[in-house]
Amino acid sequence: MSFMKPFILTISGGPRKDGCSAELLRRFTAGFSARFAHYDAYEKNYAPCTDCRACREFEGCAIGDMDGFFADFEACDGIIIASPVYNMSFPAPMKAIIDRMQRYYSARFFLHKRPPIAKYRPVALLLSAGSKEEDGVLAAQQLKKIFTVTNCELLCQVTLNDTDKNGSISDIETEIAAKAAYYADSAGIITLSSHNS
Ligand SMILES: Cc1cc2nc3c(=O)[nH]c(=O)nc-3n(C[C@H](O)[C@H](O)[C@H](O)COP(=O)(O)O)c2cc1C
Repeated sequence: MSFMKPFILTISGGPRKDGCSAELLRRFTAGFSARFAHYDAYEKNYAPCTDCRACREFEGCAIGDMDGFFADFEACDGIIIASPVYNMSFPAPMKAIIDRMQRYYSARFFLHKRPPIAKYRPVALLLSAGSKEEDGVLAAQQLKKIFTVTNCELLCQVTLNDTDKNGSISDIETEIAAKAAYYADSAGIITLSSHNS
């Protein structure tokens, strides 16, 4: 039996370190007894995919700036993405990360690796959106393809809507706690009693 803490990869998609999505991530993971690797999309500022198609010839990416990220992405026990919704999508640096997953799509469909990543990892998606509209739905849909080829499953989603006006994180505290508990259980994370306090 292993007593290693689960290894959780978190990705912050927004530029505001004290923003709503950052707060969602803090509250969601509060009390999680895990080893975290945090990736900030704006700080990392990874290069966008150029469709050079090298990943159709070999397993990997011709641009080396995400090598460390890919290693953690493949080895982790769970993934949590926290991001604002920009134009019904993700902020550009976050979208660059999503597009750079093309290497796994190529591995699956051009190099016939089934699956390109052996390990299953559950995903939680935390979104903040200025409007009351369902803009987060479209953003979540954009992750579907990469999740399919990377052996990931979207287990739960929390969206804080209406942040430009009345949306308050305190209104969805119960939802955050419930979904965090469900996610922790699925990812094998022990939750300490301080969760969400
Ligand atoms: C460039 C830009 C585009 C945006 N597009 C949308 C949008 O399409 N739908 C929406 O509901 N909110 C949109 N917003 C509002 C943000 O989603 C909202 O302010 C969010 O809570 C910011 O998250 P943060 O506090 O983590 O930075 C946009 C904001 C910016 C700056």
